[in-house]
Amino acid sequence: MNQRQDRGRFITLEGGEGVGKSTNLAFVKAHLEAAGLEVVATREPGGTPLAEEIRALLLAVREEPMADLSELLMIFAARAQHLATLIEPALARGAWVLSDRFTDATYAYQGGGRGLEVRVIALLEQLVQGDLRPDLTLYLDTPLEIAEARLAGRDLDRFEREQRAFFERVRGVYLQRSVEPRFRVIDASVPLERVQRALATELDRFVGETAR
Ligand code: TMP
Repeated sequence: MNQRQDRGRFITLEGGEGVGKSTNLAFVKAHLEAAGLEVVATREPGGTPLAEEIRALLLAVREEPMADLSELLMIFAARAQHLATLIEPALARGAWVLSDRFTDATYAYQGGGRGLEVRVIALLEQLVQGDLRPDLTLYLDTPLEIAEARLAGRDLDRFEREQRAFFERVRGVYLQRSVEPRFRVIDASVPLERVQRALATELDRFVGETAR
């Protein structure tokens, strides 16, 4: 067996607000475990105690506005910690890592939403991740109206309070990036059972290809 085969696989789940990521993350984890795989489920920003503290700073609503560049650097600071202490060791011992969001979210939110230069994000991505990229990215896509309806009545964090135009740009970047071969766009506007059938199909195909 070569080194690549010994390593686990890195799967990310992406999507805008209110697309049902948490429910579907649990489904993806259970589906992979049923196939006999060890799965480490985690999330970004966060995933380790220190990175979760950075997450709390990022999501908190406060009076002082957060500069876009501070936001970006905090996200990558959390990511560096997450990679070093959780993701890399898990992949190295052969576990599969399933992350609720990763760097595609940075391109979508900080690049698309905030308007930061892609070049700057790419530079930090290279610095923090080296060559590490997800092996498979499941992008849950839904028109904004549906997501907005699902968010109504919730206590909103600093990102969820953004305007609709912000989320249009976020979705636009995700869809642009979804041409990359590792992406699978899953229509999340249909009933949950159908979303999960689509996820299962993609996962079974991916696991099958990986085993070959
Ligand atoms: P969540 O909605 O998945 O819990 O994520 C928390 C927020 O963090 C969400 O509004 C998107 C935002 N976020 C970014 O802006 N950039 C990133 O790189 C990541 C991972 C999340």
